[in-house]
Amino acid sequence: MSALRKAGTGRNETSGGTAGDTAKIAVRNLTKVFGDAVDEAVALARDGVGRSEVQRRTGSTVAVYDVSFDIEPGELFVIMGLSGSGKSTLVRLLNRLIEPTSGTIDVDGRDLGSLDDAELRDLRNRHIAMVFQKFALLPHRTVRQNAEYGLQIRGTDPAERRAKAEWALEQVGLAERADAYPGQLSGGMQQRVGLARALASDTDVLLMDEPYSALDPLIRRDMQKLLVRLQKDLRKTIVFITHDLNEAMLLGDRILLLKDGRLVQVGTGPEILESPADDYVAEFVSDVDRSRVLTAADVIREPRITVRLDENPADVLVRLGQAEATGAYVLDDDRRILGVIRDDQLGYAAGREETSIDPAVLVEEYRTTEPDRPLIDLLHRVGRNPVPLGVVENGRLTGVVPRGAVLAALSTHADAHGLDPDDDGHRNRSDRNEVA
Ligand SMILES: Nc1ncnc2c1ncn2[C@@H]1O[C@H](COP(=O)(O)OP(=O)(O)OP(=O)(O)O)[C@@H](O)[C@H]1O
Ligand SMILES: [Mg+2]
Repeated sequence: MSALRKAGTGRNETSGGTAGDTAKIAVRNLTKVFGDAVDEAVALARDGVGRSEVQRRTGSTVAVYDVSFDIEPGELFVIMGLSGSGKSTLVRLLNRLIEPTSGTIDVDGRDLGSLDDAELRDLRNRHIAMVFQKFALLPHRTVRQNAEYGLQIRGTDPAERRAKAEWALEQVGLAERADAYPGQLSGGMQQRVGLARALASDTDVLLMDEPYSALDPLIRRDMQKLLVRLQKDLRKTIVFITHDLNEAMLLGDRILLLKDGRLVQVGTGPEILESPADDYVAEFVSDVDRSRVLTAADVIREPRITVRLDENPADVLVRLGQAEATGAYVLDDDRRILGVIRDDQLGYAAGREETSIDPAVLVEEYRTTEPDRPLIDLLHRVGRNPVPLGVVENGRLTGVVPRGAVLAALSTHADAHGLDPDDDGHRNRSDRNEVA
């Protein structure tokens, strides 16, 4: 089950612990109050008084309260919440554009609170770049000059910054438009220039505050794909803010859910879907398209039975019966699929007292998938075969996806639908032929 995206399960219990050694960004007990009545507001928040009530009683706003989490190197970490939940405040705290009321932020193990002004400037120039929703492009400078801008501020020499800007424009697919002016570009292209500027700065962290919310859906999808590709290719740590849960689920390795400045849950999309922390989250995720979020790896099972060619057909037939299966994958020593053997073929071979399985009788009655395929792509592949859908990674069978598991995962009320999540989709042959 090496493919499981859930490998990171358990990483979300960071609050209260010491800052993780391996974390790119470690946030501990971070609180930000806007206004003068700081102590009073914090005391009320500690007693569990909600933000609007605190505001009414003190005139101060608890924008972020007691938030702790770790972001791993190379992770695409999404911060998600409704308008006013504190997302922008949190991301601005991460690069110290605003000062926390209390709590700490470590980047690469360095406490930001201990940095002086010059070190902070260096941090923003070299380590953490920020992309905003409305990127501040300079209208009278070309796309290339805009992409170079961060480097220019840093004092990088012209030849080097030009080379880096052109590389960055190449990454976002805008190399051809380097001499255009921002006003000549569409909104999506302008956003890509903003992204190129951040990339040219060659920082290892990118903070992106709702960069795509002003884009229309098709362009937005392109930008999402671009971001996923860049993260994979460039191994950046990306903190991506959105109020769109579907976008969060699509992009995030993990998602942090904020509500009224408080952390409600941190986890992978599938974790949040499968075990929402409370009713608020459950309500929130109820209209997420589970078929696009959950993947084969989320519903993978051990196959009930697999077989090798040197096994005795009569013995295999008994095991098949015990597994309540009508067929089994036949694997070689490297777990590569040689084919499928059906019970009727085994019965025939057993009757002739054969001592091993004849490779010539294996059938191709199976379908396979890669572990990261969303369930929506699997719906037409599960069932209708003597063996469940095979999950294949690097040519090897790592598990199976029974039809019942897919259907159960797609239904939040599996019980109500009378589905058995352990139904392997093993059906009897007459059923299969009927459908064929
Ligand atoms: N500079 C400020 N002074 C006073 N209050 C502020 C300031 N910045 C934010 N707030 C308040 O803090 C709370 C969180 O705001 P924030 O902008 O972080 O939310 P957000 O999740 O980014 O919202 P949106 O989705 O609308 O961008 C809000 O109540 C907001 O009014
Ligand atoms: Mg905001």
